[in-house]
Amino acid sequence: MKKILIHTLLALLLLGCSNGQKKEASMVPDKTWWKEAIVYQIYPRSFKDSDGDGVGDLKGIIEKLDYIKSLGVTMVWLNPFYQSPNVDNGYDVSDYKAILSEFGTMEDFDNLLKGLHERNIKFVLDVVVNHSSDQHEWFKQARSSRNNPYRDYYHWWPAEKGKPNFRYSLFDEKGDAWQYDSISNSYYLHYFAKEQPDLNWENPKVREEVYNIMKFWADKGVDGFRLDAFQFAAKDTTFPKFPDGFEKDFIQYYAMQDGLHDYLKEMNEEVFSKYDVMSVAEGAGRNFQEAHELVDADRKELNIAYAFDAVDIAKPEGYSLLKLKNTFTTWDKEFSKKGWLSIFLSNHDQARLVSRFGNDSEEFREASSKLLNTFLLSMRGTPFVYYGDEIGMTNIEFDSISQYKDVAAINGYKKALSEGVDMHKFMSDLNFASRDNGRTPMQWDSSENAQFTSGEPWLPVNDNYKNINVSVQDKDPNSILNHFRKMVKLRKDNEVLVYGDYQLLDENNEDVYAFTRTLNNETILVLLNFTNHDATIELPEISHVNQAMINNYHSVEINHSSIQLKPYQGILFKLN
Ligand code: NOJ
Repeated sequence: MKKILIHTLLALLLLGCSNGQKKEASMVPDKTWWKEAIVYQIYPRSFKDSDGDGVGDLKGIIEKLDYIKSLGVTMVWLNPFYQSPNVDNGYDVSDYKAILSEFGTMEDFDNLLKGLHERNIKFVLDVVVNHSSDQHEWFKQARSSRNNPYRDYYHWWPAEKGKPNFRYSLFDEKGDAWQYDSISNSYYLHYFAKEQPDLNWENPKVREEVYNIMKFWADKGVDGFRLDAFQFAAKDTTFPKFPDGFEKDFIQYYAMQDGLHDYLKEMNEEVFSKYDVMSVAEGAGRNFQEAHELVDADRKELNIAYAFDAVDIAKPEGYSLLKLKNTFTTWDKEFSKKGWLSIFLSNHDQARLVSRFGNDSEEFREASSKLLNTFLLSMRGTPFVYYGDEIGMTNIEFDSISQYKDVAAINGYKKALSEGVDMHKFMSDLNFASRDNGRTPMQWDSSENAQFTSGEPWLPVNDNYKNINVSVQDKDPNSILNHFRKMVKLRKDNEVLVYGDYQLLDENNEDVYAFTRTLNNETILVLLNFTNHDATIELPEISHVNQAMINNYHSVEINHSSIQLKPYQGILFKLN
């Protein structure tokens, strides 16, 4: 086999045209800034602490604005930073127009937004309005008596009617979404923790309050909205009985209920249509049709679908690349003509990207992190990348439940104990999948606490920070960080990576994910070896390839129409 350095011009092109015909030129579909965006997600509690209290804050993010700019990303999504008792780290909001004091002040927020805009970076606000905190004034009023004007802001069930039909709660320690409240002898509904009562979207006053809140932030200049858990906002408020065991498939019963589209259309009319903003809801319906109904332009609801099918594939025992390929390919196909997707494999509700989808061993962490970032940034859809993945941060090892901070982990543990499940397996699964894995402090340098804080970090810094940090990688042209920056630049410089048609190659190859992106007469070939061993891909229809545009190794082996890839090797070739 002939070994050829990528710096050598390898030869010519012509792909997918075994009959020698050039592919018909594809048109650039509706071009829009949010389709071209690269979103960088920041978990504010863990990014940078400016005042030594161990908790990240807005001033800390401001200190790092030039770093964010250096990544090349064009948009920042910040997880909630509103006033909150922090039962669920800000996803329990007690005042939607105030800043959590640990994070700073409204002036800090204004400065942050200004600093981002000065750097041509847009901002996405996380809007948490399926539920509020039980400490929100609305809920305090609502629970005070059955006659309170705020009562109908939430869902209540009078106890004299008996216990309401079972509803499953994701974070409740008993899994029960009905919480009895003695003050008014009633139950209230909470799909998440009991401190997160669900808002009643049937009440027009609630909807008006929410739109006013959104306009308050849009008037400040935020450029986008992410709607937390919004698929669940509409409910059948007669609360009928669901079949036994429905909780195993609760999305079917909770998501996309009647009324949801009316709320979204109204929100669009009242808020989105009045500003140049993008919108994305967490979740994308229960099937493709529902996803389209959320985001197709003619629906006038949302812009970007955020589907979990791919992210849910990683399991402690591993995952099948064929399944991953199939999932991304099917979603792409379904959205190739209409609608728009987000592309992501990690966020604050997941463990770390490289630990779940790559290989976080000493030997392969670097290559597999680069591979995953190459993948995310070469797909069609708006990439959402999560802080720390640009340097290959990994899961943290916790041995005991006392180390976890996440309400989902702690209450999940209590539930598992009460149900007598195998606690050894529970802990080992938690170690792999816990959200705390993805929330450890950003690793800036090799000084104490990775320069995240001068105090005691709210969640421990991963022990590997001396090896894995921004400062070390900044200086190394071959680091994961600099590879990420190159890949971002490549996407921004090549419209084909944003708008080009996607075509899967060698579908049944269990090791290599290969596809092309084509726009007009331009084609880019993407080759990704997802395994820890060499892998070969036969591409008979490709006669020749040009010089690699990016490669996480120094070379690649090419022999006629077959290409041999090193473990976790990821390469892009321009084919014409
Ligand atoms: C989804 C958010 O992403 C998650 O972090 C939160 O716990 C729940 N919604 C409840 O708001």
